[in-house]
Amino acid sequence: MHLAIIMDGNGRWAKQRGFPRTKGHQKGVEVVREITTYCAKNPEIEILTLYAFSTENWKRPKSEVKFLMKLLDKYLQKELKTYIQNDIKFEVIGDISKFSPSLQKRILTTKEATKNNKSLTQVLALNYGSKDEITRAVKKVVQKKEKITPENIQKNLDMPKDVDLLIRTSGEMRVSNFLLWQIAYAEMFFTKTLWPDFTSEELDKILKEFKKRERRFGGI
Ligand code: FPP
Repeated sequence: MHLAIIMDGNGRWAKQRGFPRTKGHQKGVEVVREITTYCAKNPEIEILTLYAFSTENWKRPKSEVKFLMKLLDKYLQKELKTYIQNDIKFEVIGDISKFSPSLQKRILTTKEATKNNKSLTQVLALNYGSKDEITRAVKKVVQKKEKITPENIQKNLDMPKDVDLLIRTSGEMRVSNFLLWQIAYAEMFFTKTLWPDFTSEELDKILKEFKKRERRFGGI
């Protein structure tokens, strides 16, 4: 199955504790590691897509954007070991051409080093926006002179696989321009837990609940 998560609430988690927002992102990274290794060990999960930086996140203060970029670079550097030990393939969706050349290089080398891993594909959505992705996909269809059909548009998306389960943390009931095409028939779960407090135990509970839901895909 394809699990997608909107990791929200880092800032509020930090604020509640009187910390700067950046501290929430740091704790958020630890949760990314826990959830990713849990998913790698769960044979039912093939793809885990995480919303790490949206096309709208550039609107945040420059210092926070800079911090997130540095955090991502450090995360990839540090986690290569985790990817290899747990047989995880690393992929990216979104337009990374706006990132610094050194960060782009780090992303490409991490992808290259993990490309044959099989237990899980962890996908980070980076400078990602679903409307941007769909627009780029339609442009590709037109450029290749393919027929404009749902199948051809889907094939040309950064993420061509449909989502089975979408989780958003922190109590917000929004999709925020994340995988709009791919969630057409996804089951949705919203939890009040802030991302830095999210655990593999809670994910396990949600997965059990997900299995109980009857998915009819428009049929009866
Ligand atoms: C939402 O919290 C989180 C983000 C905008 C970024 C997600 C980033 C991480 C979990 C850490 C970086 C990840 C990697 C893989 C390096 P928010 O800041 O919107 O929180 P708020 O809504 O409470 O303000």
